[in-house]
Amino acid sequence: MAVQERWATRVGLVLAVAGNAVGLGNFLRFPAQAAQNGGGAFLIPYLVSFVLMGVPLLWVEWAIGRHGGKFGHHAAPGMFDRLGNKRWLKYIGVFGLFTNLTLAAYYCYLESWTLAYVYHSVVGTFGTTDPKPFFDHYLGVTAGSIFAFPREAFFWYSITLALNIFILSRGLARGVELVCKYGLPSLMIFGVILAIRGLTLTTDDPGVVESPLAGLNFIWQPQVEGLLSPKTWLAAAGQVFFTLSLGMGSIHCYAAYVRENDDIALNASAAGWTNEFVEVIIGSSILIPIATAYLGLDAVQSQTSGGSGFAMGFLTLPTLFNQWGWLAPVAGALWFGLLFLAGLTSSLAMGPPVMAFLEDEFNWRRVPSALTFGAGTFALGFVCVWLYPGGSFDEFDFWTGTFSLVVFALAEAFIFAYVFGMDRGWAEITRGADMNVPRVFRFVIKYVTPAFILIIFIGSLIQPEGKWINAFHSLSAGRGWPLSGGSVLGKVLHVGEQGGWFDETGAPTRRLVIDGTRVLLSLVFIGCSFLVWKAWRKKAPGADAARGAESFIRRG
Ligand code: PHE
Repeated sequence: MAVQERWATRVGLVLAVAGNAVGLGNFLRFPAQAAQNGGGAFLIPYLVSFVLMGVPLLWVEWAIGRHGGKFGHHAAPGMFDRLGNKRWLKYIGVFGLFTNLTLAAYYCYLESWTLAYVYHSVVGTFGTTDPKPFFDHYLGVTAGSIFAFPREAFFWYSITLALNIFILSRGLARGVELVCKYGLPSLMIFGVILAIRGLTLTTDDPGVVESPLAGLNFIWQPQVEGLLSPKTWLAAAGQVFFTLSLGMGSIHCYAAYVRENDDIALNASAAGWTNEFVEVIIGSSILIPIATAYLGLDAVQSQTSGGSGFAMGFLTLPTLFNQWGWLAPVAGALWFGLLFLAGLTSSLAMGPPVMAFLEDEFNWRRVPSALTFGAGTFALGFVCVWLYPGGSFDEFDFWTGTFSLVVFALAEAFIFAYVFGMDRGWAEITRGADMNVPRVFRFVIKYVTPAFILIIFIGSLIQPEGKWINAFHSLSAGRGWPLSGGSVLGKVLHVGEQGGWFDETGAPTRRLVIDGTRVLLSLVFIGCSFLVWKAWRKKAPGADAARGAESFIRRG
């Protein structure tokens, strides 16, 4: 994005940022996370995380972005470089490149399923049969090998990515903003239609076994027991990160294209609350209530507790819609169309940070930057598509869609409050603000948010198998810490997994795919770091040295 680029209108900007936040996370991940974590027990930790961590981080990221934009930096490395005079700061910004690139690869894949499913809903592929065989076939899971190449999935992936790159190449105002301006309201209307149809189902309708309101009740009725479960807190905080697109560098980038004195406090809040409305109100009112109506609440709870949350909308809804007669293809097209628009307006936010880096630091033009971003995403996405059955996609989801967000957010929360400094930070957040930012948030941003993220970070590193309290008992009894295979350390150490990279017959195993994906992701991270190093070396030979001398003199 060229330095002189700007958003066209304020409404367009807020819709673009809300479109960034409103995504597959709202309609697929949220309901599944809520259901997996006891429904209403999830709600209080979720809302507390939103207020104590989500909202403050939104302001912090907007402030870092607008501040960086003032110096002509629209990507995280340059912005972080401007937060203080330490050489290492710009390398924190590497996360803002790495996450967007790798996230785009797997997120666009998911987005392309929704496009394929619009097509299959309209042509009536699903019928009244079990949708699982089609789903598996589509992803290459049935071929019996972990290396099956799913041709149809690859076709839709290529189309989706090409569309993204085309829109990105038109720039922010003429591309992203325009798509969000129409896409976001449309998807909300689709969502409301589906929610009304779903919630008005009664047990008199054919096939309905339970009131859909039981599903709503399950998600919305707050239950205090979630407060005592660290696992629920981790899941809730993780969802807040993902759904608000925090800890990724994408909000920073959008914010860098506003003017120096444009309001950011109100824009950030408006986009954040729009996201919450779509997530908690509309997102809760479709998948779970409809599934509850036809399958019963018990079945919904046991289904979501097993597999990946993302799959539920593909596996249950197509067949359930088929009970709706002539409305079935329309409902399918509305549901997957809604998901596609939600996905598209989000994936469009992943390109600009990487493109801006190439444009700002290497003086590239927009179209070559878009194409380069597309080529990188395509190469990584190819691995995701091809090795989905071997578990590659889940690795992308975990390391880039969950773990690196927390690491980046942890770093930025501390840097903002203690390196940039809270006085400058608060002034940056409130300058030009059209709303009164409650002063209590100054305290929250300085102490509560960083501590909160630190606890989440440590929790995710060492999450135990079973209950935390039992883990502490086990530790104090000298039996060691029962590390969960799902924790970060557990994954690194392959806790609870057997076997190596090849089985007895010498054939490659899932383990090989998983470790291979991790190596690939590490290489991407190293590559991004190298580019940052090169950009600064090229920019001003000796800039770092001069800065070191400057701070030496000041200290002296
Ligand atoms: N917030 C988006 C969602 O809920 C995901 C996203 C992450 C979008 C990062 C942009 C950047 O699906």
